[in-house]
Amino acid sequence: MPKSTHHELHLAKRMSRLGTETAFEVLNKARALERKGKEIIHLEIGEPDFETPGNVVEAGIDALRKGWTHYGPSAGLPELRQAIADDVSRSRGVKVSAEEVAVVPGGKPIIFFALLALADVGDDIIYPNPGFPIYESMIHYTGAKAVPIRLREERDFGFDVDELASLITDRTRLIILNSPHNPTGGVLSQQDIHDIARAIGDRDIMLLSDEIYSRLIFEGEHYSILAAPGFQERTILLDGFSKTYAMTGWRLGYGVMRKDLAAHVTRLMTNSNSCTASFTQLAGIAALRGDQSSVDRMRAEFQRRRDAFVAGLNRIVGFSCRLPKGAFYVFPNIKKTGWQSKKLADALLTEAGVACLSGASFGDFGEGYLRFSVANSLENLNKALERIEQWTKGNL
Ligand SMILES: Cc1ncc(COP(=O)(O)O)c(C=O)c1O
Repeated sequence: MPKSTHHELHLAKRMSRLGTETAFEVLNKARALERKGKEIIHLEIGEPDFETPGNVVEAGIDALRKGWTHYGPSAGLPELRQAIADDVSRSRGVKVSAEEVAVVPGGKPIIFFALLALADVGDDIIYPNPGFPIYESMIHYTGAKAVPIRLREERDFGFDVDELASLITDRTRLIILNSPHNPTGGVLSQQDIHDIARAIGDRDIMLLSDEIYSRLIFEGEHYSILAAPGFQERTILLDGFSKTYAMTGWRLGYGVMRKDLAAHVTRLMTNSNSCTASFTQLAGIAALRGDQSSVDRMRAEFQRRRDAFVAGLNRIVGFSCRLPKGAFYVFPNIKKTGWQSKKLADALLTEAGVACLSGASFGDFGEGYLRFSVANSLENLNKALERIEQWTKGNL
């Protein structure tokens, strides 16, 4: 093959350790098939199919018109940091001040910055597996050791706290929790949080609690380790606007953490993004302080779709699916199909026109499962069920 470039690219070694998020790759593949004329039902990407609420859009436009188009403070606008502190204090039942809030462009940078700030070569970081792929990718990138804790279907995709206790060593620097959970929809109960807190005890271990789906819970309430006695100073809470207010493209998220760590995360912001877009932040204030009925409507719609889609999957031979308690994903067990999850996801995309993700793309313990996002209309979800069923009839 002719060389397309004149000079070799000498990548830094650390780049070989950086992973990716398969959802974006599958989306690209699906789009390429669409360009060739194939019709695809998109159940691969994790973003609400709703519009950003009107009052939030108006606040963003108003901010642009009023000239909020310049740099702002790296830690975020004081008014938004205060609005977030008030919101988190109320929702998590703890006292949070604006200085403990770092505003960043989306939820992801908090994962990136927390790991850059805390993880060293030789540290152990415990993380859920299956889990959001960026955790494992970023742990590897820092050179720390990725220590998976297995989520178990028979526990509704919770983990065994004794197993967590057995993984904790003197090298454990950070434990990542994610509730409601991507990709399984699992939710940590109050008892789970209590047991996890007891297993960690008074050790000098930080927690990264990814609660980006905290407002998308269908049964019960949301509980955060942030509120466990003695844990506020050891917890970095990650939350944001992408999922709750259908604002994925606005890029707005935040971390809540002890003030000294917030100052270091702010330094990472100064070194990378300078600041989060100013008009986006004003839209964020409107989202938090305004009418919340759009969140309730979206949650109710996700619940309706979840119920229909899970019931439909359970009627398909080879599939069995638990009812997820939160987020907007379903994670059926496909072991009885006899297919490897990546192969099955590929076949469903290319042959049945249904884009979904293999469980294995969320880590080794995700093998044997698929992830479908229900962020699509009920009509399309039903069409996807029909296509999958037809496909299984012809291929299993
Ligand atoms: C568990 C989890 N954490 C964080 C994020 C990142 O969200 P954002 O788009 O706000 O960066 C996602 C997005 O899919 C997610 O699923």
